Amino acid sequence: MAFPVSDEIHLWLIDENSVDDALLESYWPFLSPDERVRYDRLRQSGDRKRFLITRAAVRNTLSHYFPDVLPAQWQFSRNAWGRPVIATPTYGGGVEFSISHTRGLIAIAVAASGSLGVDVEYTVRRNRTVAIANRYFSPTEVETLQRLPAQAQRERFFDLWTLKEAYIKACGMGLAIPLRSFSFDFSDEKIAIAFAAERDDEPQGWQFWQMAASPDHRLALAFKRAGETATMKVVCRALVPLRDSTCIELRQLRHGVQHL
Ligand SMILES: CC(C)(COP(=O)(O)OP(=O)(O)OC[C@H]1O[C@@H](n2cnc3c(N)ncnc32)[C@H](O)[C@@H]1OP(=O)(O)O)[C@@H](O)C(=O)NCCC(=O)NCCS
Repeated sequence: MAFPVSDEIHLWLIDENSVDDALLESYWPFLSPDERVRYDRLRQSGDRKRFLITRAAVRNTLSHYFPDVLPAQWQFSRNAWGRPVIATPTYGGGVEFSISHTRGLIAIAVAASGSLGVDVEYTVRRNRTVAIANRYFSPTEVETLQRLPAQAQRERFFDLWTLKEAYIKACGMGLAIPLRSFSFDFSDEKIAIAFAAERDDEPQGWQFWQMAASPDHRLALAFKRAGETATMKVVCRALVPLRDSTCIELRQLRHGVQHL
């Protein structure tokens, strides 16, 4: 079994447009009965396509590290907050993974151990960014956002949004963590996190990355491993599930590590 090396995070990116109809059709048999129920509930063809690609991509990615397990053999359950976890096969070692999908792009991050979260957002869609920020971001994040010139606010909004989502996913609790209970700061183009008193966490040990996954997609990664702050290397690959994958370089916008 080939685990991802302990000081690397592997980021697998799937461009939805790289999957044609025939290939998409071949993913259908990989769905478990409950995934078929979820698929049937989706009404939009775009959502259905994204769902199928995601299910195939997760299985393909995990089998890359565990070649003894065929993609169809992976079964998943969810923790109390909805995070997918491997149900079967059970095995001795650990592997951490996190999933994000948005229009056009699916991201899967993998590490040997630790708390890992990824978030990708399509930045072209129109959102009432400042109104959403006022509702969900911390007071210092809102204040910094509002001080920026209007054209920079939109970019900052997605930078903050993806980082906040990556952090709550790394914690495995999703929106059960109030988004106002922690703040990101980008002084000197380094990412730092601070916590409100109500959030029982500390910045030390957390590492964050912000990347341009495409001209229209912002991506963030959050990672922490207990007792360690070795700076992790992020290795990226473009994947066409069950067909091929190639190494790619993403433009890194910011990184931050808070040492113990
Ligand atoms: C579910 C949530 C964790 C992420 O949702 P999202 O950013 O909209 O969607 P993404 O595609 O990036 O992530 C969804 C994936 O996160 C994973 N996920 C779900 N719950 C999770 C949890 N508690 N912990 C970690 N990962 C989780 C799942 O793999 C899910 O995909 P799947 O159901 O196809 O397997 C949650 O934060 C949410 O619902 N967010 C809504 C967005 C929002 O309102 N943001 C406010 C602005 S900051």
